[in-house]
Amino acid sequence: MPKRIFSGAQPTGNLHIGNYLGALRNWVALQHEYESFFCVVDLHAITVPQDPKELAAKSREVARIYLAAGVDPNVSTIFVQSDVQEHAELAWVINCVVRISELERMTQYKDKAKRQRENVSVGLLTYPALMAADILLYQTDLVPVGQDQKQHLELTRDVAERFNRDYGETFRVPDAFIPKVGAKIMALDDPSKKMSKSDENANGRISLLDDAATIRRKFKRAVTDSGTDVRFDASRPAVTNLLSVFQLLTGKTPEEIESHFAGKGYAQLKSDLAEATIEFLRPFQERMRDIGDEELSRTLKGGADKARSIAAETMRAVRERMGIVGA
Ligand code: AMP
Ligand code: TRP
Repeated sequence: MPKRIFSGAQPTGNLHIGNYLGALRNWVALQHEYESFFCVVDLHAITVPQDPKELAAKSREVARIYLAAGVDPNVSTIFVQSDVQEHAELAWVINCVVRISELERMTQYKDKAKRQRENVSVGLLTYPALMAADILLYQTDLVPVGQDQKQHLELTRDVAERFNRDYGETFRVPDAFIPKVGAKIMALDDPSKKMSKSDENANGRISLLDDAATIRRKFKRAVTDSGTDVRFDASRPAVTNLLSVFQLLTGKTPEEIESHFAGKGYAQLKSDLAEATIEFLRPFQERMRDIGDEELSRTLKGGADKARSIAAETMRAVRERMGIVGA
């Protein structure tokens, strides 16, 4: 069997450069080496309340973002999670294998539940079971994600191993692919927090759809550290975060970047970074506009058909192993 990749993003908020640098960029880079599945995970989005019209529109927008970012529908499978019902079916099975204590330990759950305060859905707790289902359905080898998903991947591996032990070899046990640079881009307004789609303050993130003026303004306002010289330095997280973004967008080495900024201050860093980001996003945003609605529908339908055929095969094996085969 070919080596497979699976990954996804939730169709909520606006995808930002952290999503791109931590995840999408690597999908694009890896898609030629692996058989790849990139999913818009709308069933994950509904673990917190969503406006139905907006969610449906966002699902298509996020698929469009995958394409504009360089995911090639001729080599990769792009689809929306709710088009493949096996995701929900396997998630139920995994809910019966995973332990409540394992789910309660997940830091993303604890953070989101705290923010939500009351009316926390059961779905929010079992979110990682659905994510494990996504991955295991496709007999995935590698899951390219940002740092924040590492714990969910470890749980996916544990659940796969437990199922294989209890019911017989059924799932491939996946590895996470987490990049060395870019796995956790921090918020521009607070370098102690990750850049997030859901943060109330939009100044902390550069959306992939921001216009040039907005990008310049947000970088200008970005928090910096004490000191003046522009160097990668773990004790100065704000400047190091900006430099990492610059490094990833320009493809320059840290040495080249430090010598470029030698004798220049933070203002120069911010303005060069803004221009590099604008340059990078211009062709991306043009491609977003160029992708027709029909073309998008065709891609998503083809993707769902392909995904469904593989998911159905895995699900057949799962049903058989567990004895849930109907009458
Ligand atoms: P999400 O927006 O939560 O659906 O995330 C989609 C992908 O982007 C996942 O692989 C995340 O790990 C990744 N990601 C989210 N935020 C960041 C960030 N601030 N830095 C790097 N990667 C991120
Ligand atoms: N939980 C991931 C996130 O918030 C999104 C996701 C859902 C995912 N299912 C997945 C990522 C499967 C990788 C593989 O970023």
